[in-house]
Amino acid sequence: PDAVRIALLGCGTVGSQVVRLLREHADDLAARAGARLELVGIAVRDTDAERDPWVPRELLTADAAALVARADIVVELIGGIDPVRPLVLAALESGATVVTGNKALLAAHGPELHGAAERSGADLYYEAAVAGAVPVVYGLRESLAGDNVDAVLGIVNGTTNFILDEMATRGLSFDDALALAQELGYAEADPTADVDGHDAAAKAAILASLAFHTRVSIDDVPVTGIRQVTAADMAEAREAGYVIKLLAVARRITDNGTRGISVRVHPALLPATHPLAAVRGAFNAVVVEAEAAGRLMFYGQGAGGAPTASAVLGDLVAAASHKVHGGNAPRESTYAELPLVTDAQT
Ligand code: NDP
Ligand code: HSE
Repeated sequence: PDAVRIALLGCGTVGSQVVRLLREHADDLAARAGARLELVGIAVRDTDAERDPWVPRELLTADAAALVARADIVVELIGGIDPVRPLVLAALESGATVVTGNKALLAAHGPELHGAAERSGADLYYEAAVAGAVPVVYGLRESLAGDNVDAVLGIVNGTTNFILDEMATRGLSFDDALALAQELGYAEADPTADVDGHDAAAKAAILASLAFHTRVSIDDVPVTGIRQVTAADMAEAREAGYVIKLLAVARRITDNGTRGISVRVHPALLPATHPLAAVRGAFNAVVVEAEAAGRLMFYGQGAGGAPTASAVLGDLVAAASHKVHGGNAPRESTYAELPLVTDAQT
């Protein structure tokens, strides 16, 4: 085909940047994908709302389902479970590729989505769902597909890292730091998902599923957010040579006769010299420990419109290229039966 038809669902912080990059880099993207990436419609909640100047108003629609039905690739950047889940399922069932940044949906309904994709031969890409611009999904799904991962740990929520950083270094109050994170486009539509650790837990579930070839759901991840962390805690930590970070930790457990995996999210004290202690603002970093590769660190902007749009565009080029030249995204192998091990067992 000369062109691949793309439906964009959502034109907020991330979606609008996807539109901008699609327009600004149209020729390069076409050359890389082997066909023009033709945006055929943009579904939003309010078609009359003010938009960034590069968003073509004639493409806006409130009828997301009709738009999905006429696309080769559906880019879902609405977020949340409802009404997104039936839209994404309809796309996958029709054989369209889905590119999404929706960790909440993936972590709650991953098996259902992957199952629908498998049955119709559709592809599901979600680099933007974990750590914004940082290619850690690709790293685990493709680069490390031949290795055995022992642990994945890191800072995977930009909003909470930004808040902790602003509180520690500029003395901002929790509320002021959160308001700033929202203004900068880092926070979820409902920022309690960030603050209470649920966004990080969703990402931990996705990373653990990829790393250990099993399916981990957000409900499997014990989580503590940062609401209880006070300025006094941070000052005390600093005086002792530590920083407080919200960590997502997923480990393979093989000792004490116990075999399984442990996945959790909680604030942690890190020595100021630890590589993760140096992760500032809305940056993310994920350390992966693998049997043959050893220790790897993935680092970069974990939130925000343009960085996240970069991850979406990368997936789009790969998806479009498959539509043109054939082939599929790698199938995810979820053969491993690894029970979740609770703290009490480790
Ligand atoms: P926004 O809240 O900024 O944008 C959401 C968009 O979805 C808006 O354009 C909104 O329309 C549209 N929308 C909402 N409900 C509906 C509906 N029922 N039908 C059609 N359109 C609807 O979200 P973000 O851009 O920040 O996030 C989008 C996704 O990307 C989420 O899954 C998020 O978790 C993920 N993500 C976000 C990152 C970030 O830094 N912001 C980073 C990584 C992932 P309208 O404009 O009319 O209100
Ligand atoms: N709200 C999320 C964060 C967006 O702050 O990390 C990126 O997934």
